Amino acid sequence: MSAVYSGESERHVPPEADVEWPLSRRGDVVPEVCAWLRENKPVARVRTLTGAPAWLVSTHELATRVLQDEVFSMSAMAEPGARLQYAPVFPATSRSSVQDIGNAGLREAVMRALSPHAVKQAAGGFRRRADALLDELVDEGPPADLRARFTDPYTVSVMSAVLGLSDDHGRLLMDGLDIAIMTVPRSFEGAQVNWDKGMALTRDRLRAPGAAEAPGLLGALARIRAGKGDQDVTDDDLASALNGLFTAGALSTAAFLLLAVLQLMRHPDQMEWLRAHPEAMDDAVEELLRCNLAIGDGLPRIATRDTELGGTAIAEGDLVLVLVEGANHDPAVFPRPHELDLTRRPGSHLAFGAGRHYCAATFLARTHASVALSAVLDRMPGLRLAIPVEEISWRSGWIKRTAERLPVLW
Ligand code: HEM
Repeated sequence: MSAVYSGESERHVPPEADVEWPLSRRGDVVPEVCAWLRENKPVARVRTLTGAPAWLVSTHELATRVLQDEVFSMSAMAEPGARLQYAPVFPATSRSSVQDIGNAGLREAVMRALSPHAVKQAAGGFRRRADALLDELVDEGPPADLRARFTDPYTVSVMSAVLGLSDDHGRLLMDGLDIAIMTVPRSFEGAQVNWDKGMALTRDRLRAPGAAEAPGLLGALARIRAGKGDQDVTDDDLASALNGLFTAGALSTAAFLLLAVLQLMRHPDQMEWLRAHPEAMDDAVEELLRCNLAIGDGLPRIATRDTELGGTAIAEGDLVLVLVEGANHDPAVFPRPHELDLTRRPGSHLAFGAGRHYCAATFLARTHASVALSAVLDRMPGLRLAIPVEEISWRSGWIKRTAERLPVLW
């Protein structure tokens, strides 16, 4: 631990942490300490898994400022020696944001693949896939693990359709996330091997005959590859963009959908109301997003110069973590924040971040969830947990808060 203290920075390094970090692995209850943090230490000292000191920001106002103020940089986290939450699980080159993709053609292809227009074209297939998965479950009868049998395979199909991959390709990438996307203090061999495997598969698909006619992003990238004269974008750039998007998208959508179903099962009155008011699905998804506890850690940024945050001095190079559930349950912005109220219109939640790095695929994210939830509510009357909620096994050491299994009855 003492290795993180050094020279000049020592003056700014908190000698101790105010709270343990990460706060909790449970995705069903807001960590109690959130309220204490907002009231007593809105900019609190924590130590990350790597032993690095960091500032944890828990009010809506300060969280929004960090995400919107360019003093707090995402790209600076890829610089050598930067303080980290956990060991990097991707090569540094694949961690840049969509806005930072250097090649204009590639950036445009990504934006187009994630646009509402492209997602709407694919969305009819989302419902068909959801129904096909639920048909099997309904035929077999309860109980069933909704994660293994529905939320994960549905997510694979949705992401694969949008990105232009076969379901088998998507499944292989999805399986790798369980192995590789861990939050641990030191890099480990499996993450690199998994990344290389996914890259090799995607590169092969991009180079395959006929790839330029493939649907979705894969086809668009293969066309860039076929048409490129200036060689300023490599096959690795293309494959890395595609695999990076699959990772960002599949992790977030699968984790959200699982927790959203759990939220509804824990609030049967709200679930019944939504079943009776299918037209309210979009607002309901927004409230479920506000209450989403899937982000297991904080959204990290590095201060690029000395500054101040809520009266606390922040030094250049300091790591700042935005506690999204802190902001999204801040009573200053959301009255009765711990109540799931599907009629609430929680416009300013930070579930998709804010500012420069605001989620690049919000339309896809919302559509993925609303189609799946509609299908589950239609097809599974009486949906409820098959085990006591305290017996849910929450995954540890992973980038999202998620349940290993979600056993249900209906
Ligand atoms: C419910 C689903 C989703 C949630 C809750 C979610 C949440 C987020 C959040 C909080 C951020 C900001 C990260 C930060 O500021 O550090 C983000 C960024 C991003 N998300 Fe999503 N996301 C979801 C779905 C997706 C999907 C489906 C994709 C792609 C297929 C995607 C791609 C991205 C990308 C590329 C960024 C980085 C944007 C940039 O820095 O330019 N997300 N997302």
